[in-house]
Amino acid sequence: MPMQAAAQAQPNIALIKYWGKRDERLNVPAVPSLSITLESLWTRTQVRFDETLGEDRFMLDGKRDDAQFQRVSAMLERLRHHAGVSTFADVRSFNNFPTGAGLASSASGFAALVVAAIHALGLVLPLAELSALARQGSASAARSIFGGFVEMACGSRDDGQDAIARPLLAASSWPLEVAVAITAPGPKSIGSSMGMVHTARTSPFYRGWIEDAPRRLEVAREAVIARDFERLAEVSEASCLAMHGLALSASPGLLYWNGVTVELMHCVRELRSAGTPVFFTVDAGPQLKAVCLPGWSRDVAQCLAEVPGVREVRLSGLGDGARVLESKEAI
Ligand code: DP6
Repeated sequence: MPMQAAAQAQPNIALIKYWGKRDERLNVPAVPSLSITLESLWTRTQVRFDETLGEDRFMLDGKRDDAQFQRVSAMLERLRHHAGVSTFADVRSFNNFPTGAGLASSASGFAALVVAAIHALGLVLPLAELSALARQGSASAARSIFGGFVEMACGSRDDGQDAIARPLLAASSWPLEVAVAITAPGPKSIGSSMGMVHTARTSPFYRGWIEDAPRRLEVAREAVIARDFERLAEVSEASCLAMHGLALSASPGLLYWNGVTVELMHCVRELRSAGTPVFFTVDAGPQLKAVCLPGWSRDVAQCLAEVPGVREVRLSGLGDGARVLESKEAI
């Protein structure tokens, strides 16, 4: 009898960015981070452990995905080890948004994979442990285990077990809205993992980035607790620009933006100067995420959509953490 389960997780967007690893093998971040989990973008993943399989199988959006197979299979191996089984698994995953284009598909992907596989294996684990497992697939995935505002520690233990996320504030307590402006749908040129390792090795400013990280996190945490939008806007844009400045200072420099991304940043700043409560953040890709106070995302989306070169603007509220799907919920 095959053991199977399905789970859903949403991507999260870091307001205080993770960039750099304290331990590459265990995938432990070098800096703490703070994120918001989205609502309307999701990954749904079905995992079926099956005695008749001679190896793992992985399909993404209906196609075999050889590029991601190693990372997925390595994660399954960790989970098998955890459960004390050796059965291979068939994994089918679907995203309702473009994969690998700086929209945090690895965050929702690994969070959904861990939750589905652990359930299929018949295990019940505390959320902190799910977060630690998800981190080993992709550190940002540790945050997608939780909903709303989420804080992630980089910890100090050698085994990385204290590098986990924890919920900071429920989505319903401050239901910010997000408009995601898509400027190019294709996969990014250099993935975050490779990009941050390259940055750490070659940027002369890496140490400064690490040293300033706890301060940035503290300011953002306080702003979230106080629901101080202005303060959160300032520290979030500063973290985003510092991360990209750092990546640009690597050798050779990493440039994740296109011209439209820059136009969008100007557009968001102009809106804010004119009184619209909005700020931007950009991850390792050319898409821009505009975060705004409740009730403002439609107006903001309209302005972003008018910037030449924007292909699509997706709206999202803040959502919950990863969850097991009921068998009646189609994947
Ligand atoms: C720019 O979590 O994708 O989105 O741990 O190597 O898988 P790995 O990296 P990943 O990096 C995310 C980088 C970022 C900032 C962030 O989400 O904090």
